[in-house]
Amino acid sequence: MSGPNTNFDPVQVAALEPEALEANVTAALEAIEAASSLEELKAVRTAHQGDKSPLALANREIGALPPSAKADAGKRVGAARSRVAAAAAARQGELEAERDARILIEEAVDVTLPAGRRPLGRRHPIELMSTRIADIFVGMGWEIAEGPEIEAEWFNFDALNFDADHPARQMQDTFYVATPDGGTDSGLVLRTHTSPVQARALLERGVPLYIACPGRVFRTDDLDATHMPAFHQVEGLAIDKGLTMAHLKGTLDRLASEIFGEGITTRLRPAYFPFTEPSAEMDLRCFVCRGTDADCRACKGMGWIEWGGCGMVNHNVLRATGIDPQVYSGFAFGMGIDRALMFRTGVADMRDMIEGDVRFNAQFGMEI
Ligand code: DAH
Repeated sequence: MSGPNTNFDPVQVAALEPEALEANVTAALEAIEAASSLEELKAVRTAHQGDKSPLALANREIGALPPSAKADAGKRVGAARSRVAAAAAARQGELEAERDARILIEEAVDVTLPAGRRPLGRRHPIELMSTRIADIFVGMGWEIAEGPEIEAEWFNFDALNFDADHPARQMQDTFYVATPDGGTDSGLVLRTHTSPVQARALLERGVPLYIACPGRVFRTDDLDATHMPAFHQVEGLAIDKGLTMAHLKGTLDRLASEIFGEGITTRLRPAYFPFTEPSAEMDLRCFVCRGTDADCRACKGMGWIEWGGCGMVNHNVLRATGIDPQVYSGFAFGMGIDRALMFRTGVADMRDMIEGDVRFNAQFGMEI
């Protein structure tokens, strides 16, 4: 019959012998010290502190000891395990600190490095100038009107009192829109000026009327430094009771000083347009020298810069749109936006304006 082996000698349990425990501790401490990364340390901890580690197995042996031997062996195993645990925790701390320091260096952002710059797009200076002009008129209480770029010949010429044989109608000046079979009698043209918007606005809105119309116009000019087959104008038309040329002059002066600077005014010279009577060419006081420099490059020493045409609306235009010239009168004007931009910015060659180079826009597309 077998009973508890009361003579059991703990020394006989090899794993619990002090030398064996010490050897395990030494092996664990060496491995811990040698672990050069957190991953390696994790593996070392599994091997030396895990459930299947020699010290864990030794711990399990304690249960088989007689009570008198348990406390002693328990103390030794406990001390061995805590030395290993303390060393492992210390190494863990070191390796974590190393890792944090490395991350701080490796993942540091050098805010002084030059950034990849994305070039910004810019609005086109002609578009900006048009918007600015429109804003000035809106500020004076005028409305903005629009018309089609493909325009009825009647609006472009007839309603504006152009004779049937007026030279501007000739094929050399005007782009006629072909009929589907290639004929030239479609009755449509690419508008040669913004003035047809005058007749459209009178018909659509009636009187009194104060409108401005910036827009694109077309003529059969070859592209060179000072001509473009497509360019921009701004048209103005005011119809009310009792309007005179003084109102026209006041409006133009206001516009000139809003765009080119306070004190810049206009002057009128007699001219002829079919849709105004009397008609005038309009010059702008040179905004560079203000008429004081005979060598000025902007005005070529003239003191004035040609800007557009204007006049009192011809009675025939009013009649063509059903308005009684005995009751209403008005004035109109039209000037080139591209031209204004050219002499405003000193651009010598119009072609630079239409090449679409963003560097041009960036340089000249600023608020004026
Ligand atoms: N339409 C004219 C042109 O293109 C400019 C012009 C002159 C417009 C006199 C007007 C005006 O409204 O009254 O040359």
